[in-house]
Amino acid sequence: MKEQELQQLFDSMSLKEKAGQLFQLAGGMLADDTAMMGPMQDMGIEKEDIQLAGTVLGSMGAEKIREIQDAYMENHPHHIPLIFMLDIINGYKTIYPIPLAQGAAFSPKLTEACAAMAAREGAAAGLHVTFSPMVDLVRDPRWGRVMESTGEDVYLNGCMAEAMVKGYQGADLKGAETLAACVKHFAGYGGAEAGRDYNTVEVSERSFRDFYLPAYQKAIDAGSALVMTSFNTINGIPATVNRWLMRSVLREEMKFDGVLISDFGAIGETVCHGVAENRSDAARKGIEAGCDIDMMSGTYPENLEQLIEDGRLDIKLVEESAWRVLQLKNRLGLFENPYKGADQGKEREVCLCREHQELARKMAQESFVLLKNEEELLPLKKERKTAFIGPYVENKYMLGGWSFTGDPQDARTIREACGELKGYDITFHKGCPVLSSDVKLEGFGNYTQETVPAKQQEEMLSQAIEAAKAADEVVLFLGEHFLQSGEATSHGEIMIPRVQQELLDRIYEVNPEIAVVLFNGRPLDLRLVQKKAKAILEVWMPGTMGGAAIVDTLTGKAVPGGKVPMSFPYSVGQIPVHYDELPTGRTHLPGKDKDRFVSKYLDIPNKPSYPFGYGLSYTRFEISPVQLSGKTLHAGEHIEAEVVVKNIGDRAGTETVQLYLHDVSASVSRPVKQLKGFQKIVLEPQQETVVRFSITESMLTFLREDDTVGSEPGSFEVYIGSDSETKNKAVFELI
Ligand code: BGC
Repeated sequence: MKEQELQQLFDSMSLKEKAGQLFQLAGGMLADDTAMMGPMQDMGIEKEDIQLAGTVLGSMGAEKIREIQDAYMENHPHHIPLIFMLDIINGYKTIYPIPLAQGAAFSPKLTEACAAMAAREGAAAGLHVTFSPMVDLVRDPRWGRVMESTGEDVYLNGCMAEAMVKGYQGADLKGAETLAACVKHFAGYGGAEAGRDYNTVEVSERSFRDFYLPAYQKAIDAGSALVMTSFNTINGIPATVNRWLMRSVLREEMKFDGVLISDFGAIGETVCHGVAENRSDAARKGIEAGCDIDMMSGTYPENLEQLIEDGRLDIKLVEESAWRVLQLKNRLGLFENPYKGADQGKEREVCLCREHQELARKMAQESFVLLKNEEELLPLKKERKTAFIGPYVENKYMLGGWSFTGDPQDARTIREACGELKGYDITFHKGCPVLSSDVKLEGFGNYTQETVPAKQQEEMLSQAIEAAKAADEVVLFLGEHFLQSGEATSHGEIMIPRVQQELLDRIYEVNPEIAVVLFNGRPLDLRLVQKKAKAILEVWMPGTMGGAAIVDTLTGKAVPGGKVPMSFPYSVGQIPVHYDELPTGRTHLPGKDKDRFVSKYLDIPNKPSYPFGYGLSYTRFEISPVQLSGKTLHAGEHIEAEVVVKNIGDRAGTETVQLYLHDVSASVSRPVKQLKGFQKIVLEPQQETVVRFSITESMLTFLREDDTVGSEPGSFEVYIGSDSETKNKAVFELI
């Protein structure tokens, strides 16, 4: 629709209709009038409000969405179409690894391809918007939502944010295979104090701007059509009604001109935060902050008109928000084609098609991180007898906590995937359930947690022990339950479940040749596992094709090359622990544990178990000293930094070569190292190649003492290596 026609339509709408555009319905409530009215009535919502709603959350499937759209448009006074929104976090039907795992793959290209695949499936199923990417910076693995982020690093998160937005949105939002992206949660949600979900965020404005905001900016610059607010407070004010954050920072500084949607119920929750007197006040504050759509608090339909009538709210603000929603509908092409990609035939054809499964398998392979591999226990050797033991041997629930659109039954288990293998001597035993019966978790839909009677559990364990005794080596498939990470899953302890620790102990007693394959959505405290396992392969929540990708990797058909995207703490006592910390005045030097008045713990090390960027391969790489093309850098010019990387092992492998910079002295203290580039290379045995990075002045900018963004002259250290602890460095001066 031309802008002028859209304006005419807008002008002909009543205030009630305009306000309706800002109200989001939940899909489940649309089934029929009775189902719809129960929960809605609790929120103070009238039937008329429902008929004027602008968007829907939670419906899916081409047939259903077409039906809802038809019925709704027929009833709407101006026949304005609805927008259908849903959380498609790591795939719609073909589920690929969770975002944290994608961070580990260090491959924005693959991530973009996966997002495009999710969009193709989701759009065919009638959806228009996905609530992704989540780009919240995470430094606390107690917070369960770290699984939805790509990790602790500002640069990596930015690359992934951009890749996901491009993948979802493609070249044309009107296309039948694209979804509009919604970057979330704006802002700082990952900083929840003590890792407790929904908790207060305390962050200085300097850190907020330097570390937290850049990834959202990348998503916005890549064109993200929507932004979602976050539940937390920023500077004491809930983000959702924080005028400074939404109007000055998001709209003016960051130049976001799309639709801003609240998080689920967040506008109403400002009453609980104690910054709104009641729901009406909350609605006023939401609109005044520029929050266009009220997701599921019901405060907008309940109060907006009355607030205007009473002269307590400027009608222009409601109009401004409604206009933005209509513009989004227009950008999506819904006025011409209200179904967009919804097509039952196409839905059947693309969902879980071979091409998508292969892509999910590739993404999973690339995301696995080899944390440990003593005596080259992995890959498995054909001539040895191996026992596959553990609750993930025959478990389809490895899609991640958000993947309610995907069906675990579509996933192939480890055991099933082994069906394709030839020449291996493997036995399969469960050993124990993922969780003991006293731990209860709730998921979406009708998932029921397995309960195993004590007697049966004993039998399982003794069969596993016998199998371990009879084997040359054991692969233990252990980890978190898929519902232990995700929203509202904060943990004070981050170890594998106790029942699995017992399994590990008992197996170790009879056969210490153990490789652990680890499933989880967050970095864990792995001290117990490290002690007893010779090899550890981190596989996260790997998705529909996870089983196949794991078997590929265990047998060496694929070689692990992923890198840790978020530090694995030694223990919870270190949290938050991240590589890009500021230097202290009293640095603790490794090996100098007797130095007393330095920044260290008396009972645990400073260093995490596995730092950011770390990951082994089945081969080894040698990286030469850093060579710079010059010793000085002037603005507008660049310096080349290069290393020679050689595969010194006897099989092909992938290395992610990482560039870190450190500003030695500046007006404010700068991180000891910051990732500024990476290149993923594949080398054949004994092959070497030059890896070159170009360093420009723009890579050296930060929020200076005077609150302007820019660089400052002086010395800079350039590090190039295989993880964030590299000491391979050279120095240049910025003039
Ligand atoms: C989550 C969001 C999500 C929304 C809609 C909220 O609880 O915080 O990330 O997009 O629900 O499902």
